[in-house]
Amino acid sequence: MGTKVDLVGLAARAWTARENAYAKYSNFAVGAALATSSGEIFTGCNVENVSFGLTICAERVAVSTAIAAGHREFDAIAVAAETEDPVVPCGACRQFLAEFNPALRICCIGRGGISRTVLLSDLLPSPFSSFDESMR
Ligand code: THU
Repeated sequence: MGTKVDLVGLAARAWTARENAYAKYSNFAVGAALATSSGEIFTGCNVENVSFGLTICAERVAVSTAIAAGHREFDAIAVAAETEDPVVPCGACRQFLAEFNPALRICCIGRGGISRTVLLSDLLPSPFSSFDESMR
């Protein structure tokens, strides 16, 4: 399923999504583009807040937008920021992404385009699972 995703196209969507980032406190704009298994793409950007802890990352915005539109199966996400070394999702976003696909493909994009593709299962090998499962 994942092999069907046009990662270059997904990367371009993430890069464009970055333009809408509301990053007035960090001045660090991030864009994300999430590919559903049905071939649609949902984008997100980071949205910061004067109460810093309320800030939401681009990845979680993209996932929430897709969920709100009725999608729950995802193949890949691209994350773009204007850095030399491309950013990888933060810990909170890794757990948030793992809820829907613990082996999601993640394309990390910096200034020079896609420079790193990783599996979420490598970044977060042991996501928190349900109480029931972890208690067994
Ligand atoms: N940020 C993201 O949107 N995604 C990431 O993967 C890393 C961090 C945002 C949060 C905050 O608005 C800014 O980048 C600086 O941390």
